[in-house]
Amino acid sequence: MTDLIERLRAIVGDKGLILDEEGKHPYLTDWRETYLGKALAIVRPATTEEVAAVVKLCAAERVAIVPQGGNTGMMGGGTPHEDGHEIVLSLNRMNRILDIDTIGYTMTVEAGVILKTIQETAAQNDRLFPLSLGAEGSCTIGGNLSTNAGGVQVLHYGNARQLVLGIEVVTPQGEVWNGLRALKKDNTGYDLRDLYLGAEGTLGIITKAVLKLWPKPKDVATAWIAVPSPEAAVELLSGAHAASEDNVTSCELMARQGIDFVLDHIPGSTDPLQEKYDWYVLLEWSSTRARRPGTNETGLAEKMEAYLGEAMEKGLVLDAALAQNESQARAFWAIRENHSEGQKREGPSIKHDISVSVSKIAGFMAEGVAAMKKALPDCRPVVFGHVGDGNLHFNCQSPSGWNKAQFMAYHHAISGPVYDLVVSHGGSISAEHGIGRLKVEDLAHYRSKVELDTMRAIKRALDPQNLMNPGKILQV
Ligand code: FAD
Ligand code: MLT
Ligand code: ZN
Repeated sequence: MTDLIERLRAIVGDKGLILDEEGKHPYLTDWRETYLGKALAIVRPATTEEVAAVVKLCAAERVAIVPQGGNTGMMGGGTPHEDGHEIVLSLNRMNRILDIDTIGYTMTVEAGVILKTIQETAAQNDRLFPLSLGAEGSCTIGGNLSTNAGGVQVLHYGNARQLVLGIEVVTPQGEVWNGLRALKKDNTGYDLRDLYLGAEGTLGIITKAVLKLWPKPKDVATAWIAVPSPEAAVELLSGAHAASEDNVTSCELMARQGIDFVLDHIPGSTDPLQEKYDWYVLLEWSSTRARRPGTNETGLAEKMEAYLGEAMEKGLVLDAALAQNESQARAFWAIRENHSEGQKREGPSIKHDISVSVSKIAGFMAEGVAAMKKALPDCRPVVFGHVGDGNLHFNCQSPSGWNKAQFMAYHHAISGPVYDLVVSHGGSISAEHGIGRLKVEDLAHYRSKVELDTMRAIKRALDPQNLMNPGKILQV
């Protein structure tokens, strides 16, 4: 053991090694505090070569590795097990932007760069990197790619998989695969890049990426809208695609319960509308076409206002507030983005990150809420999410005042019927958060034998010693 630590120190130096319990702690528990693991060491390499050397050493010594980025994942994928035999390999020192190509619309980055830094760098160069999610101030691009993260602009730009051209990976043997190709077209055999994206660190460590950029929007309209029902929200979105000239970049649905948790627990939050309603939509349209001053041209805000007026006449909208400036739009967004934090502060919850096709959302929702209530009548459903992607955070908050142990006794009784319903609607039990450790049994239950066998065959072929994030996604 001492020998291993000294050999790790020889690779990453003192700066790259955390051994004391207090220093290790933030790396040993997940954002939701579902797991608390142990680790031989937290190893923080500064270069791809250092990552490769650490992996080679661990492969020779049969020490398992848990890759970690910003540690904001929801499924416990970045948390080590409790036996203390693994190391955590944090990418947080590999945080350099390596190149920005404004002509070719690409940015090359190290895996540990914080998502917000990438967004800001793109914006400073009059470009957009569209991945956007509540954890953007602390999650890393390596973690985003490894979980194939979604967020609030997927309906227009796609999820993380669609936002990347090339990656560099350190394999479980400690070899470096340089797939940093800035190519839109590349049909040269099996797509290795797509194999590592969404693999949650079980097949290798992503060390660099070439990201795609878009033109920066110049005209943005944002509205906070009360709607009578989830059906109305879906219909409102359906019409918005044409009314906005295909410029809908976000459409988020929220039930009142989640908003109340934000208003109760996040200081500075205010309700955008005076009356309280059951359902809300946060709708954003963005265009790269700037409004020309001094012309009568209609901008997105006017178009959105007209569309919402018509929708109100049809009964699809009950009330709405259109953001008058950027800071008002940011305030609307803060209420949406603070839903996870609000839920966390309220107490224990069970998360169901599910998807069904957009047209089935309303039907699913009514049955799903009834299923949760049947399992635990006093539970508090907290439904919100990316309605434009058919992805709902169909969460369940404990009855008021319950502790975690009390509530978690109902976990299977609540989640089983919800997931059965999702599957009966042709949906997915994990739309964007991945499988990690939390859903290993659910994946094994809901995926077909042929699918699981193929996944296991891939895992065994690439990582025959099962040292790369073992016990996550699959038991092999
Ligand atoms: P980590 O949590 O550190 O790791 C996640 C997984 O990836 C682990 O399995 C880890 O082993 C692996 N990993 C990390 N880095 C690497 C690497 N370089 N190479 C190989 N494997 C690696 N997710 C969404 O999809 N959409 C949302 O809207 C969303 N909103 C969120 C809001 C909040 C407030 C929070 C806390 C989380 C949210 N998430 C969301 C979940 C999470 O932020 C994302 O999944 C994010 O992409 C994880 O990035 P990370 O750097 O924190 O990864
Ligand atoms: C979000 O969209 O805010 C997160 O993915 C949701 C969650 O906490 O379930
Ligand atoms: Zn989400």
